Amino acid sequence: MSGQREQFRSRLGFILAAAGSAVGIGNLVGFPVNAAKSGGAAFLLVYAAFVLFICLPVMIAEMSLGRHTQRNPLGAYNSVSHNSGVWRIGGWLAIITPFMIAVFYQVLTVWLLAYFIGALSGNLDAMAQPQYFGEFINSNTVFVYLVVLTILIGFILNSGVQKGIERLAKVLMPTLFVMLLLLTAFVLTLPNALIGVKYYLVPDLAKISPEVISNALAQAFFSLSLGMGILITYGSYVSKRESISGGAKMVALVDTSVAFFAGLLILPAIFVFNPATDTGELTTSSVSLVFTFLPKIFLSLQDVFGYTGANLFASAFFLLVFFAALTSQVSILQVPISAFQDELGYSRLKSVWSLGACAALLVIACTVSFGMVAFFTNFISYGGADKSFFDVVIDVFYDTILPLNGFIVCLFVMYRWKTANWNQELTEGDAAFVGSWTQKYVNFSVKTFIPVVLFLVFINTVCIKFFGFSLTDYL
Ligand code: PFF
Repeated sequence: MSGQREQFRSRLGFILAAAGSAVGIGNLVGFPVNAAKSGGAAFLLVYAAFVLFICLPVMIAEMSLGRHTQRNPLGAYNSVSHNSGVWRIGGWLAIITPFMIAVFYQVLTVWLLAYFIGALSGNLDAMAQPQYFGEFINSNTVFVYLVVLTILIGFILNSGVQKGIERLAKVLMPTLFVMLLLLTAFVLTLPNALIGVKYYLVPDLAKISPEVISNALAQAFFSLSLGMGILITYGSYVSKRESISGGAKMVALVDTSVAFFAGLLILPAIFVFNPATDTGELTTSSVSLVFTFLPKIFLSLQDVFGYTGANLFASAFFLLVFFAALTSQVSILQVPISAFQDELGYSRLKSVWSLGACAALLVIACTVSFGMVAFFTNFISYGGADKSFFDVVIDVFYDTILPLNGFIVCLFVMYRWKTANWNQELTEGDAAFVGSWTQKYVNFSVKTFIPVVLFLVFINTVCIKFFGFSLTDYL
């Protein structure tokens, strides 16, 4: 990937590609689950504030670092720091993190594939039963889908069809968004939906706790693909004629809108199907929430479209979400693969195979952690709870490490790359950036409070997740 890099042909091309990679399971599953369990509107408020005031500057920092160095994350850290030892840690974290994210992402993508096939074969009434999801993830069928998906991804990564997939995604992602809007509009017409809308949109500030703050920050980082090296990599393909800050704002807007509507679909649906839901119960929500409620929503469409119509609508929706996950998965894997090629001199095939083999073992360990194998199911216990192997991967690589990676990026940009060089890069393709409010805010915040906030949230998340207490208990 070194030498003359390809570039996105247009600003829109870049935005769609970056948004296509950012929109995924995080928006459509992670966001509604977190919003449900972390107080609804209180979560939404904290989330929106984080995106605007904290994540956007970090996103701009990552993209510009990529465009300046024209390298993968490890190469980017090495080239600006002249291979200085400490900063290599940042580079390695930006490689290991996406690799481990790819591992658990694979597990969820398999479920989406299975739900697509399930709906396509007219199975919606079974899928809408509360026990279906739990039984499915512990059945041997999961392995069949796992093998199919692994072959599909291996093929995409090796065969150069990735460009085609990305082009297809540009058409399919807007379609997904339209379907999401239609479905949301439908749910909002159902009885009791307004209880959910209120829970989602009218904040109860007393619900903002350190845990809600940790969840919101982790979710925002994950959803915007921050702290994973991916935006450094994407930035390296952006032309010098484009505005980095303008592109970042668009990507954040698209990504946040998709998450917002996914929440506006799922949260009201919870109350439609059970108006007596106690919001206190929702604090234990997990991904099974989305996998149980979506089939229920689709099944209720049968009054309008008939049973076959409902199944077809559901399968189209799951196919599109699966596609969103697939494009994300391919782009996540791209980060460690290109780092192996550029930095270790491996061929593409060797990189794909060596990383793929390690990933496969870890994916299997995650897949059997829901009850199939006792060792992985009851893997360890910390923070006052028993954790499976899958839980550990999620706790470390979804909930904890991303703010730390963001913290390192901020320090790196400000104190190693230096503000003047950074601003020079941001001015390329965007003469109006100099002296703008965006520049003032971004420069000030990345140098001062953003690293502080990220570091405090990181430490507090470690305390909450792994040791079962919050620093605020001592205030
Ligand atoms: N941001 C994606 C999501 O919300 O599902 C996840 C993701 C995509 C992470 C691409 C990393 C990445 F490279």
